[in-house]
Amino acid sequence: MATTAFDPFGETFLADPYPEFARLRAAAPVFWSPALQYWVVSRYVDCKRVLREYTTFSAANSLAPVTPPCARAGAALVEGGFRSIPTLTNVDPPAHGRTRRIAYLAFTPRRVAQMEGFVRETVRRFIADRLHEGRADIVSALTWELPARVIFQVLGVPASDVASVKTGAANRLLFMFGRAGEDEQVEIAAGMAEFWRYCEALAEDRRAHPRDDFTSDLVHTPDRDGKPLTQQEVATILFGLLLAGHETTTNLLGHAVRRLLEHRESWEALCADPTLIPGAVEEVLRYDSSVIHWRRRTTRPVELSGVELPEGADVLVSIGAANRDPEVFTDPDRFDIRRREASEHLSFGNGPHYCLGAPLARLEARVVLEELTAALPSLRLAPDQTYTFQPIIGFRGPTSVQVEWEN
Ligand code: HEM
Repeated sequence: MATTAFDPFGETFLADPYPEFARLRAAAPVFWSPALQYWVVSRYVDCKRVLREYTTFSAANSLAPVTPPCARAGAALVEGGFRSIPTLTNVDPPAHGRTRRIAYLAFTPRRVAQMEGFVRETVRRFIADRLHEGRADIVSALTWELPARVIFQVLGVPASDVASVKTGAANRLLFMFGRAGEDEQVEIAAGMAEFWRYCEALAEDRRAHPRDDFTSDLVHTPDRDGKPLTQQEVATILFGLLLAGHETTTNLLGHAVRRLLEHRESWEALCADPTLIPGAVEEVLRYDSSVIHWRRRTTRPVELSGVELPEGADVLVSIGAANRDPEVFTDPDRFDIRRREASEHLSFGNGPHYCLGAPLARLEARVVLEELTAALPSLRLAPDQTYTFQPIIGFRGPTSVQVEWEN
């Protein structure tokens, strides 16, 4: 089969990657993509192993630009003062544990539970203020901004910075996961450097003026040896959270509204019985993951599904393909909010880097669906819409979801 035809930036794949994932999983579960310069892995059992087995599959490349930047883009980063260093996401155990332990403080069950009131109050306010015309784009009205406001609350970032942080995060996504031409790369690199400087300034401000927020905790909490994180480490963690903390969840919420309304009986079931909502969130995460690819690099030669990978091989883990693997999920292309095995999905990764924000993302999705089903049970998709997606390889969500309802 023509694995060389695999093009994760192609329009057909961006619009709906699942037919291609099914084809690859069955015919070439591990193959070399010359266009990407990555080994592409798509069976559940292999993806889970790659994510978990950190001694063989290093996370060092997980945030690297998938398209090597041109020299001018590299220079724009240097000139822009960009100096992020490997921290947390792209560091392997045991060193990983040092920052993971401190970053976890933001996401303990107690801290996440404390966020519920803020999330619910914000969702109610957005619904009351922005959803009263009988039609709206649910992304621009609600799901684009809400997760940013939530992570801002955790980090102590002012709400007035939503637009600039969202722009900075979008630049970073294009730089890490996109395939831009050279001129565009330079612009993206400059935007990303500006976003980096914002994170550095935030860290510096809290070093000088600590407050009651997680940024101050990051700056001041000592590691096990009694040493605080360096300013570069703190800024790098903020740079990560001010992207991972909202883009992923915006995408989850967009997928959720779309898929639940496409399967109208599911939406009606949630309106009638909100206790079904947590299970529905897991099924949305499985069926239409907001992270469809993640990355690792081999530290030694290794065999996967009968294919020999050399040492130093870049591996593209197709989380989206794994989540529809019929070996694990019965009738995997069926959307079923009561599916028992839904939470086996790999959407939050697996192993030592398992997503720290998963409890917060689940909380936000549950509260949004509780509030939307209660306030707008007649919600439906506007007819004849096509969905568009960012031209990037890792994160995936509809850029708009047009809805209508009876007032
Ligand atoms: C639907 C929402 C989300 C999805 C699908 C998602 C997905 C992921 C994935 C795939 C990873 C990599 C796991 C691995 O390497 O095995 C990850 C790591 C991470 N995520 Fe999320 N994420 C989401 C929401 C969030 C939120 C809301 C936050 C923060 C508020 C967050 C913070 C992080 C951090 C800090 C890591 C790195 C953890 C580490 O390296 O130890 N994520 N996430």
